[in-house]
Amino acid sequence: MVKITYIEFNGTEHIVDVETGMTVMEGARDNNIPGIEGDCGGACACSTCHVYVTQGMSDCSEADEDEEDRVEEAPGLQINSRLCCQAVVEGDGPIVVHVPSWNRNAVKEVPH
Ligand code: FES
Repeated sequence: MVKITYIEFNGTEHIVDVETGMTVMEGARDNNIPGIEGDCGGACACSTCHVYVTQGMSDCSEADEDEEDRVEEAPGLQINSRLCCQAVVEGDGPIVVHVPSWNRNAVKEVPH
């Protein structure tokens, strides 16, 4: 198990344990972390699962060429940008992941 801290765009932190070998997106889904869309279902075809890995990048699998090409389409690209459906948890952690605000699809938001 690896500790992953998911930080929402509004600063809310979720600290969870994720199994080694799972993707950062699977860890988010299993723990109901809001804000990660993943429109293509993890097929490296949409870039809506874009996150920033601010700690523990070396504890994630390296981005392959497909991911690198796709993540370039994500708004707000940074050196620590990853598509979380492609980032497999490999090391001991801890890993810290920031979810950008623009991943949220306003159309799908349920009004409060
Ligand atoms: Fe579409 Fe990750 S879910 S690229």
